Amino acid sequence: MTPARIPIWLDCDPGHDDAFAILLAAYHESLELLGVSTVYGNAPLSKTTSNALSVLKAVGKESTFVYPGSWRPFSRHTKHAPDIHGESGLDGTDLLPQPDRKPLRYCNAIKDMRDALMSRPPHTAWLVATGSLTNIALMFAVFPEVASHLKGLSIMGGAIGDGFTDVYMGPEYTDSVGRKHTRIGNTSPFAEFNICCDPDAARSIFTNPDLTPKTTLITLDLTHQVCATAEVRDMLLFSTVKQEPPTKLRRMFYELLMFFAKTYEAVFGLKDGPPLHDPLAVAVVLASMHGSLHSLFDDAKHERWNIDVVTEGEQAGRTRASPASEGVFIPRSVELKKFWDMIEDCMAKADHATGYVQ
Ligand code: BDR
Ligand code: CA
Repeated sequence: MTPARIPIWLDCDPGHDDAFAILLAAYHESLELLGVSTVYGNAPLSKTTSNALSVLKAVGKESTFVYPGSWRPFSRHTKHAPDIHGESGLDGTDLLPQPDRKPLRYCNAIKDMRDALMSRPPHTAWLVATGSLTNIALMFAVFPEVASHLKGLSIMGGAIGDGFTDVYMGPEYTDSVGRKHTRIGNTSPFAEFNICCDPDAARSIFTNPDLTPKTTLITLDLTHQVCATAEVRDMLLFSTVKQEPPTKLRRMFYELLMFFAKTYEAVFGLKDGPPLHDPLAVAVVLASMHGSLHSLFDDAKHERWNIDVVTEGEQAGRTRASPASEGVFIPRSVELKKFWDMIEDCMAKADHATGYVQ
């Protein structure tokens, strides 16, 4: 008997790496993608929504509904990331198709996300968030029953620093009295972008006792180990069977990665390729399938954490972790080959579904 697929909902702000999260969520045979909601972030909401529709069309999954959510955090000014993702949020390629579908207009992303997750049996569905946490924080505030109903919550966001892993985050920064410090974040020296966009939303998630024991947080400490190097980019362009010429779909993803690589080098001096943050949060759901996360993410020590989010001052958006007996799982490492194989496998499936268009 074929094992049941895991229902997931993806909340995202595409975004170069979000595009890979969509690919993985839409094509992994163990996942059932219930819907995609969008949030402001890498670009304004209108653009992240249209990007989600374009990516879904490009990969041959245009039937997946896209629900536009929040266009701003609930108590702050909106941040975007044109220096990293370009003005459109997905700069770098002309191969992205115009979506045929219009974004849904008469919808409420918060309620529709709730309804989809609650429509599945208790403790089966996962929520994956790869943008700012505004949408999902609103959903848990308005519909608290979803927290106990979910099987898991996987978030790409935050940065622990202070030797949590040994990744390089970019140039040191100098404080107001001239001392040099190691950089922790990517949006400020202290804070990662998704959390920095809406620290209040993040804090509401990490202080919810129904959620924290089922939450996995994919931080920069991990994602900076998962760089789309030249070797990875070539593998994804030509596939593992060295198919020539590369398909249009592969060229599109390759061009997106090249743009992302260029901005990461320009802004952070990272020469090895851009960290592919977001699909790791989808991979968490797959790793959970066998009852433990051991198969993909190292959880040998079973460490769990309380997360405090700094909401004010120059460190706003910083995520501070302290050990807890029950709390959030923050993987420190991942099996790189297994991860890239999963991405390649989904790329091959999407290629097949879209008819190997040249
Ligand atoms: C996160 O911020 C965005 O730029 C990426 O899409 C990712 O979700 C990394 O800090
Ligand atoms: Ca993102």
